[in-house]
Amino acid sequence: SQRRKVDERLLAFKLSIEQLRLVKATMRAGLEAGLKMKGSSAVKMLPSYVCRTPDGKECGKYLALDLGGTNFRVLLVKFRKGLQPRSRLYHKIYTIPQEIMQGTGEDLFDHIVDCISDFLEYMGIKNVRLPAGFTFSFPCEQTALDTGMLVSWTKGYKATDCEGHNVVSMLREAIKRRNEFDLDIAALINDTVGTMMSCAYEDPQCEIGLIAGTGTNLCYMEEMADNEVQKMCINTEWGGLGDDGSLDHIITSYDVEVDQNSINSGKQRFEKLTSGMYLGEVVRQVLLDLTRGGLLFKGNVTEPLKKPGIFETKFLSQIESDHLALLQVRSILQGLGLDSTSDDSIIVKEVCEVVSRRAAQLCGAGMAAVVDKIRENRGLDHLNITVGVDGALYKLHPHFSGVLRETAKVLAPQCVVTFLPSEEGSGKGAALITAVARKKEEMQL
Ligand code: BG6
Ligand code: GLC
Repeated sequence: SQRRKVDERLLAFKLSIEQLRLVKATMRAGLEAGLKMKGSSAVKMLPSYVCRTPDGKECGKYLALDLGGTNFRVLLVKFRKGLQPRSRLYHKIYTIPQEIMQGTGEDLFDHIVDCISDFLEYMGIKNVRLPAGFTFSFPCEQTALDTGMLVSWTKGYKATDCEGHNVVSMLREAIKRRNEFDLDIAALINDTVGTMMSCAYEDPQCEIGLIAGTGTNLCYMEEMADNEVQKMCINTEWGGLGDDGSLDHIITSYDVEVDQNSINSGKQRFEKLTSGMYLGEVVRQVLLDLTRGGLLFKGNVTEPLKKPGIFETKFLSQIESDHLALLQVRSILQGLGLDSTSDDSIIVKEVCEVVSRRAAQLCGAGMAAVVDKIRENRGLDHLNITVGVDGALYKLHPHFSGVLRETAKVLAPQCVVTFLPSEEGSGKGAALITAVARKKEEMQL
């Protein structure tokens, strides 16, 4: 029957517990290989030069820049120490148009500096040379806290002449070109690291940062076999898992299609199964296939269905909401230009559900690998740990966070993992790292 044919196609997304255990083991092997091979493996395991979480003694005024999520944000963060450490935060959001993301590197950095200039003007602080932290949510090979070379763009970015270059120098040069204000850029930070630090300010057990948004990534505090540095935060870049073929056992023909249509085909395979930028595309590929097979939309492959990007993550979140009647699902589809019957809308909802459920389970399997690794590192039978989390998929999707938590719990039964959503993004973390960096310098003087 028709129904059976639909079910058969969706079966590929339903992972068994054995398959999830295998993903956990694959992630673990990826983490270990990355630590040994220093950047040249699928999971890059990049050192962040952040060696401790905040202690509440941070104080002063800092600027934070946050590039790489849905928007670019500029923030001014103030910390007050004392019995009850406090922070205050002022920010403005700017969009990065696609032609800038995919134009020249110089134009991208000039645009960022434009936005910073607008913010400083707005706050009336253009004449102070503030210490600043730069959250740059892409893989960077760092050689110091304030020095890092972009390894490769991910998500929708493709600006020329940035890969292989020190992005902090590029930012400093753009500030010089404008010759209107100055900043003391003290730290380059991945968004996972910023998120972990933001949350650790509230909860000292927070030693992991997770992003489930446009992209997906995780960082954690790793023990170092070094006399001076006992721990260092490692930016895993786990989105690259599978780039060596190690996830081929779960990759469907729909995923292959999404990968091949992307601007970085062959790269970020785990990210393409789990993050906001790609889930809607996976859904669209399935709907296309069902329609071509005459199982959906009366077999009519219409123009909207052929349009990449029409299923943004926010539609997945809406369609899967428990409070939504089928009639409302149909009206969402109508809004996208897709005429549906009530049977169609049931199928579309199921497709969204299997795709996002798989995403959450895969992140949960990855999380289980990380917490077990930390537990074993410390020679413990049981580990209590907090994960600072951010990203639209985690925060806005109705089921993602629950499935993620449940999967991690089943696959890492010796760990109690608490998820703490970051309230103010990674900017506060970037400011905290800057505060620690500048204080350390003062003490050395
Ligand atoms: C923000 C962080 O809150 O979340 C960013 O400050 C991060 O640094 C972003 O990149 C991720 O979310 P999304 O959903 O916009 O990719
Ligand atoms: C991509 C980037 C990574 C970032 C993540 C979440 O995977 O490569 O650096 O942390 O997206 O924004």
